[in-house]
Amino acid sequence: MSRNSIAHGIVQGIVLAALALASACRLDARDDYLGDKDPPHFGLGHAPSAAEIAAEDIDVSPDGAGLPAGSGTPEQGAQVYAASCAVCHGASGEGKPPAYPQLVGGPRGNVDFASDFAIPRTIGNYWPYATTVFGYIRRAMPLTAPGSLTADQVYAVTAYLLNREGLIAPGTVIDARTLPAVKMPARGRFVPDDRRGSIGGRRVR
Ligand code: HEC
Repeated sequence: MSRNSIAHGIVQGIVLAALALASACRLDARDDYLGDKDPPHFGLGHAPSAAEIAAEDIDVSPDGAGLPAGSGTPEQGAQVYAASCAVCHGASGEGKPPAYPQLVGGPRGNVDFASDFAIPRTIGNYWPYATTVFGYIRRAMPLTAPGSLTADQVYAVTAYLLNREGLIAPGTVIDARTLPAVKMPARGRFVPDDRRGSIGGRRVR
């Protein structure tokens, strides 16, 4: 066999392979478009286990529904706060504006938040439900590692913040029963939003 005919044979082989590939691709594409040969399922994902659902099912209602087992005191929470929160929210919850919000120590009473957006909205002057404090921290904090705290740690740091706001006494054990009973100063400042439609009009309060 001459060098020429070897080269010729290689080229022929490549062309044939390319043709075979092209026709295979064409068939695949046609299958996709016509949907006549779709597999019954694609083998992706799996049915979630009870543990996987439980890990996602972490919402907490104002009446306490959804709160997990566990408990904590302000004193235990002080340690959690110092270790996991103070770096951003300051040693005493005073915040580091503008990036890291103040958590406690805002003005109390009939504060007109609408007149001045700079007035700090803190747990004691703005949050209507104590359960939301727990729910928010559990879902979102610490910012860089949400979900990393145990239920006991979240109860404890919630208790710490509520105590810092003067809403519970030192030593109070906060758990699924005691947390929903904490009365928040801002509770009466919120009303159900019963507007209809998305543009408001006369119905907007
Ligand atoms: C790495 C920085 C960082 C750390 C650590 C951190 N936070 Fe935050 N936190 C933030 C930022 C930023 C926001 C504002 C988020 C937003 O408004 O979307 C925030 C918001 C909050 C709020 C809501 C404040 C409000 O009134 O809107 C609470 C409560 C809170 N953090 C508690 C905690 C607790 C408790 C810890 C410790 C377990 C913690 N944070 C750790 C950065 C941090």
